[in-house]
Amino acid sequence: MKKLLTLVLALGLVLSMVASASALTIAFSQIGQESDWRTANTDSVTAAIEGHEGWEFVYSDGQQKQENQIQALRNFITQGVDYILFTGVVTSGWDEVLTEVNEAEIPLILLDRIPDCADKIEYKAAFGGDFPLEGRRQIQWAAKYLESIGKTEDVKVAIMEGTTGSDAQVGRTEGNLAALADYPWMEVVGQQTGNFTRAEGQALMESWLKSIEKIDVLIAQNDDMALGAIDAIKAAGLVPGKDIIIVGCDSVKAAFEAIVAGDMNATIECTPLYGPFVVKAIEDLEAGVEYDKTVVHPEEGVYDCVGGIEVEGTTSVLAADVIDERQY
Ligand code: AHR
Repeated sequence: MKKLLTLVLALGLVLSMVASASALTIAFSQIGQESDWRTANTDSVTAAIEGHEGWEFVYSDGQQKQENQIQALRNFITQGVDYILFTGVVTSGWDEVLTEVNEAEIPLILLDRIPDCADKIEYKAAFGGDFPLEGRRQIQWAAKYLESIGKTEDVKVAIMEGTTGSDAQVGRTEGNLAALADYPWMEVVGQQTGNFTRAEGQALMESWLKSIEKIDVLIAQNDDMALGAIDAIKAAGLVPGKDIIIVGCDSVKAAFEAIVAGDMNATIECTPLYGPFVVKAIEDLEAGVEYDKTVVHPEEGVYDCVGGIEVEGTTSVLAADVIDERQY
C-alpha cells in the first residue's frame, strides 16, 4: 500500500512538471479589425493558440493606433508573458518598445507586417506576406488581361493604397510602380489611400469618379477597398469589372463572390492564416530549434475571372472553380 501511494505521488509530480513545462502565456498585439483579412488573421491565431493544450492567449486590439500597440507591448512585459506575437500598424517607430521587449527577454515573433527596425532587434521567427511581389502581380495581371482583350493603348490606372506607412502599403506600392515601368501604355491617373477599409475605398472611388476624366483599371491594395469601390462604381451608373477592370489583393471570400458575379476581375492572394505557423514555431522554439531572421512568406496564388494568366511565379486560377474551398 505504501509503495502504491509513493508511485501515485511520484506520477502526480511528473504530470504536474510536464504540465507546468508546457504552460505558456502567449500575447498578441494586433493592429485592429479594418478588413475581412484582419478578422481572419485574428481568428486563425486565436483558434490555434487557444486550441493548444496548456497555452493561454492574451489578445490586444490596437484599434489602428500605434500608441495603443506600444501600451499593449508594455503591458505584456509587465505581465511577464512567455511569448509576444506582433504586427505593427505602421513600419516605423517601434525601436524603443521592441528593445524593451528584448531587454525583458520575452521571445518575439513577427507576423504579417515587419517593422523597419527588424535588423536592429532580436526576434525568434517572422512570417509575413511578400508585399512587393503582390503589388507586381496586381499590375502584371491587369496588363496581361488587357493584352488578352486587345486593350493596350492609353490605359488609365488608379491605385488605391492601403494605410499610409504600413508595410503592406509601402511594399505593394513599390511593387505596383516597379511593374508599371514594363507597361508604358498604362498611365497612373490617381494614387491615394483608402486606408484598407471598405468605407474609405467607397468614398475615394466616389471622389475619383467625380474628379478624374477616365479610369480604365482600379488597382486596390486590398479586397475590402475594391468591394467599397464597386458600390461607388455601380452608384455612378458604370459597370464594375467591365467599364473599370478591378484587381484586388488578399483573396477573401467576398472577393471571390464579386469575381463570380462579374463585378471584379482578379484578387492576388495574401494569406492571413498564420495560426498554424505560430504554433509550429513556438513548439520548435520550446524544443530548442532555432529559426534564422529570414521572413517566411507562405506560398500564395492568384484568382480571377478567366484563369490561366501567367504572372510572376504563378498562373491564375479561375475563382469559380475554387470558391467553395476558401477558408476566409
Ligand atoms: O497587412 C496585410 C493587409 O492588412 C491586408 O492586405 C489588408 O487587408 C489588411 O488590412
